[in-house]
Amino acid sequence: AAAITHEAENAVISQGVVESNHTGFTGTGFVNYNNSAGGYVQWTVNAAQAGSASLTIRYANGTSTNRAMDITVNGAAAATSRAFPGTGAWTTWTTATITADLKAGANTVRATATTADGGPNVDHLAVDAGGPAPGGKT
Ligand code: GCU
Repeated sequence: AAAITHEAENAVISQGVVESNHTGFTGTGFVNYNNSAGGYVQWTVNAAQAGSASLTIRYANGTSTNRAMDITVNGAAAATSRAFPGTGAWTTWTTATITADLKAGANTVRATATTADGGPNVDHLAVDAGGPAPGGKT
């Protein structure tokens, strides 16, 4: 199935601001995390049925230092201290993908900065629930 894009600027934002001064984003902007640990962007993602999904975060990091974040799904760890390395410029956007199980209905996906630098600039979350079926299911 095609991925569904959820813009960061429309998500729940804690300790970050919506900006649009670095080109190349989708939608109307991106989230600039505060330069501190603990800020997050939290999306609500609907799934037609329970199962594995690809969660792709589009981001830019114009520094040479990783902007690590924890990714949780419905409050449970899906990725711990994912690196989000430098992309070369704040206008150079790339993607990082994890795989996680979603439940049927509404799910929360939260990306929380884990270092004092804060998160990268985050453009959106793309969710593709049409990937391979989870093991054991037919
Ligand atoms: C710069 C840049 C911001 C970025 C920030 C940071 O100020 O313009 O978009 O978020 O650095 O280091 O986090």
